[in-house]
Amino acid sequence: MKKHIISLHPLGKELKVNDQTPLIDVLHEFGVEFPCGGKGTCGKCRVRLLNGELNVTKDQQKKLDQLGLDSDWRLACYSKCTSDITLEIEQFKHLILADETEFFFVPGKGFAIAVDLGTTTIVAQLIDLSTAQVMAVETMVNPQVRFGADLISRIQACLEGSASEMTRIIRAAIGMMITLMLKKHDVELEEVILVGNTVMQLIFSNCDVSPLAAYPFHSTNLGMKILTTTELNWKFKVNKRIKFYPSIGSFVGSDILAGIVATGLHLKEEYTALIDLGTNGEIVIGNKQRIVCASTAAGPAFEGANISMGMRAVTGAISSLKQADGQLKANVIGNTIAKGICGSALIDAVAILRKLDQLGMFGEINSGEPDILLSGKVRLTQQDINEFQLAKAAIAAGLFILAKDLEIELSHISELYIAGGFGNYINIDHVVETGMIELSPKKIHKMGNTALIGAKMFLFSDLSTIDEILKKATLVNLEADRSFQDIYVDKMLFL
Ligand code: FES
Repeated sequence: MKKHIISLHPLGKELKVNDQTPLIDVLHEFGVEFPCGGKGTCGKCRVRLLNGELNVTKDQQKKLDQLGLDSDWRLACYSKCTSDITLEIEQFKHLILADETEFFFVPGKGFAIAVDLGTTTIVAQLIDLSTAQVMAVETMVNPQVRFGADLISRIQACLEGSASEMTRIIRAAIGMMITLMLKKHDVELEEVILVGNTVMQLIFSNCDVSPLAAYPFHSTNLGMKILTTTELNWKFKVNKRIKFYPSIGSFVGSDILAGIVATGLHLKEEYTALIDLGTNGEIVIGNKQRIVCASTAAGPAFEGANISMGMRAVTGAISSLKQADGQLKANVIGNTIAKGICGSALIDAVAILRKLDQLGMFGEINSGEPDILLSGKVRLTQQDINEFQLAKAAIAAGLFILAKDLEIELSHISELYIAGGFGNYINIDHVVETGMIELSPKKIHKMGNTALIGAKMFLFSDLSTIDEILKKATLVNLEADRSFQDIYVDKMLFL
């Protein structure tokens, strides 16, 4: 297959892609957000074509005209790569986007780094503090994955004697990502801020994770961790100490704290919710008075774990499925042969199969076959569907119990934001149809990597915001609710 080079400006990145690769498939890896999910209505994915050719379809031209954009511009969500091109990423030239509105910051001096340290992936950005512009981005798979995909296996590996090795490799990996960015931009760093879940924070900071391994699964070491470059064995200079932001609770980390800041839910009168569908699924509901949050066991299925042909949203993954004339039509990331299915398409598959009456209300395959063919050789088994039911019930039950804790109805939630790696591809109507989120689709918005957005915002705010949120936030143990089991089983059904 023909290959093309995409050069990204101002990131200084080059990528080799297959002919006809949709830009959304490659740009989301660099933290580019697609707020309207590629409907062509928000215009926020616009890119300026600096070199090469990028065809404009009639549909796209209509959207560009509606948005008042001239001939240099393209909507990344509508464009496919057909030649070598150089693109300027508009999102990275503007103010930080949060909650569809711009976050107004007080310009600072110099440069800083924001890092989202996820269980599966790490994203780091070099930020110009005078403009909030993203100068460079580095992403990588967390090298700790060789110790296990989820948090439980990472904790287990620590207990079995690998804790210091896991600390060493994660510090080295992030140090390397920052070094690579500094090679492209020879600047002096003022600050490095990291966010991540509690386990990631403790391992990075060389702290004991064993309290999280046994009942009551509670760590008292949740505060901000302050480190030096010498301790971290980082060879570049940073003027201030390195900060890993505090966790809210034992399984709700600073990535969620950052998500709260990114959505601004702590400032609003109305109730707002945030669901992070990362490796572990965290849920927050709150307003300016009160915030409740919980972690659920929902995440791994959406990252492909426990799904027989599941994979992350990378090249070869079916990222979405549509129904046309009773048939399934797959979109594959990188425009290549389907190798597996990622979380967003898993949601699509279940919603569509249920509509086609191929699945019953208990999730059973109506034909009695052990699996259903989705595309190419990719199949969905009965076991996969049951895994999905467990995950969707965990989210639905979590939302229900948190709302109950706040003494509100779910319908009182005015907006719900979905964060998480595959958020760009998620079909909100399908999410609602599966019963995972029992709200009107109009209230649900995708927000991409809220942890990274929040980490950037931390670079421009003082710690009082964080103290305020931590004071308001309560961690809820969902399983301690006496009706949890009943609610959970109920939410597994497809009604
Ligand atoms: S126009 Fe909204 S994501 Fe492309």
